[in-house]
Amino acid sequence: MGTDVAERIAILDYGSQYTQLIARRIREMHVYSEILPFDTTAAELAENPPKGIILSGGPNSVFAPGAPSVDPGVFRMGAPVLGICYGMQLMARELGGEVRPGESREYGKTVIDTDPGNDLFTGLPPSFTVWMSHGDMVSALPPGFKVSASSANCPYAAVRDESRRFYAIQFHPEVAHTQNGGAILSNFLFKVCGAAGKWKLDDWIDATVESLRGRIGCDEVVLGLSGGVDSSVVAVLLHRAIGDRLHCIFVDNGLLRFGEDVQVEKMFRDKLGMDLTVARAADRFYSALKGVEDPEAKRKIIGREFVNVFAEEARKFRHCRFLGQGTIYPDVIESSSSKNGPSHTIKSHHNVGGLPPDLKFELVEPLRDLFKDEVRAVGRVLGMDPELLDRQPFPGPGLGVRVLGEVTEEKVRLLRQADLRVQEEIRKLPFYKEIWQTFAVLLPVRTVGVMGDQRTYEYTCAVRSVDSVDAMTADWTRIPYETLAAISNRIINEVRGINRVVYDISSKPPATIEWE
Ligand code: XMP
Repeated sequence: MGTDVAERIAILDYGSQYTQLIARRIREMHVYSEILPFDTTAAELAENPPKGIILSGGPNSVFAPGAPSVDPGVFRMGAPVLGICYGMQLMARELGGEVRPGESREYGKTVIDTDPGNDLFTGLPPSFTVWMSHGDMVSALPPGFKVSASSANCPYAAVRDESRRFYAIQFHPEVAHTQNGGAILSNFLFKVCGAAGKWKLDDWIDATVESLRGRIGCDEVVLGLSGGVDSSVVAVLLHRAIGDRLHCIFVDNGLLRFGEDVQVEKMFRDKLGMDLTVARAADRFYSALKGVEDPEAKRKIIGREFVNVFAEEARKFRHCRFLGQGTIYPDVIESSSSKNGPSHTIKSHHNVGGLPPDLKFELVEPLRDLFKDEVRAVGRVLGMDPELLDRQPFPGPGLGVRVLGEVTEEKVRLLRQADLRVQEEIRKLPFYKEIWQTFAVLLPVRTVGVMGDQRTYEYTCAVRSVDSVDAMTADWTRIPYETLAAISNRIINEVRGINRVVYDISSKPPATIEWE
C-alpha cells in the first residue's frame, strides 16, 4: 500500500462491520494499522513485516462452504496474532483446536471473568462487561493454549498461548459496549507486540510527499478537482510534492452550489498558484438532461457527461503518466476488501471508472490509507482553509438530484438561490459542525400563495438537514424554530419563484438523505 511506515499492525479483514473501527482505535494510539484482504499471504505480509497481526471478526461461520480462511504461514511468521470473534475461531481451528457450531447466536453484553496473569488484561478489573456477537464458538483449545477469560455461556471467552504470542477473544474490544476495550487493544499493541506508538500525521505527510516524489519522478499528474475535501487535500499534497507538474481539472457541470466555481478558482489558482483548468460545461449537462425525469437516468447522464468532459480536458494532458484521485480508506475497503470478498457491499468509487481506453493513466491515490477525519487533519497540517475542510458532503450529481424531475437551467438557478439562504442561516448555529448535511430541494410542485394583493402560483422548496455518523442511517436535525423561520422568510422573500417552504422530518431508513 501507499506509504512505507516502519511500524504497522496488519488487520486481516473477515468482513465484520467493526473492522474499520479496530484500525481507527489502533491509529488513535499512534500505531499505524492497515486493513488487508483476508487472503493476504504470509509472503505478502513479510514484504513489510508487521509488528502484530489481527484477524478480524466476520459474518460467516467457519463451517460454511467457502468460508474465508487464513494462510497457515501467518502463524509461522513469529509475529504476535490477535484473533477476534471469527478470527478466534479460525485461529483455534487452524492451530489444532475445535470449534462447535452455534445452535443460537449470543448477541449483546456479557460479563467475563479474567485470569490475572494475562498480558492482554493487565491493569484491568477481574471481571467486566464485553460485547459478544457470535454463533459458533471454540469448544477445545489448540495445544499450547490456556484460558484467559470465561463467561456464563462461553467457557473460552479469551484464550492465549504466551510462548508464541497468540491471543484470541470471542468478544469485540473495538466497540464502545465493551468495557476496557481500548485497554485490551493497547495491551496487545504495547505489551504483546512491543509497539513504540510514535506514528503521527506529520510523519505521514513527510513520508507521503517523499514517496510521491520517488514514484512520480520527472513525470506529470492530472487531477480531477471537485471542490470537495478529498480531492482538495490530494491537490495540495501533490502540489507540495511536484509543484507545477500537477495539472488540475475542475468540471463546472452547471449543477454546483452558489459560488462554488469561483471559490475553487480563487483558492487553487489565485491563492495556491496551481495549474487549474476550469471546463465550463453547464450547457452540455442541461441539454443532455432535457426532458429526463427518472432519477436513475439523470444520475447516469450526469456521470457519463462528467467522464466525457473530463476525458476531453485530460486528453490535453495525455503526456501525463499519472491520474491523481481522492480515494480514501472507506472507499478502498468497501470496494476491494478481498479478491473473493467476505463482504458483499461493492461500491465503485464514483470518479474511478469509465475513462475511455485511449487514456491510460496510472492511478496515484495518496489518501487511500486515511479515514475522513484524518484527511481533514492532514489538510489542517497543510495549512488549508478550515471552511473548506469542514465542508459537508455534496453528491457527485450535485443539484441535478435536488431539482426533482426534469432539470432546467431556470430551476437550478432557483434552487441555488434557495440553497444559499439555507447555508447562510444554518452556519449561524453553534452546532453547525455536528450536522451531517443541510440543503434545499426544489419540488416539482407549484402551489397557490398571496404576495401583497397578488395571487401567486410558484414552486415549493423543501429543506433537508440530517444528523448522521456514516450516512448509512440518519435522523432529521432538530433545527431551532427560529432558524427554520429565518430560512423560510428569506427564501420566500428573496427568491422570486418560490412561495412555500417545508421541512423534511423523515429519517433514514426508510427515507434516504437525498430525495432522488
Ligand atoms: P442517500 O441519499 O443514499 O445518501 O441517503 C447518502 C450520502 O451519499 C451522498 N450521495 C452521493 N455522493 N455521489 C456522491 O458522491 C452520488 O451519486 C451520491 N448520492 C448520494 C449523499 O449526499 C449522502 O451524504
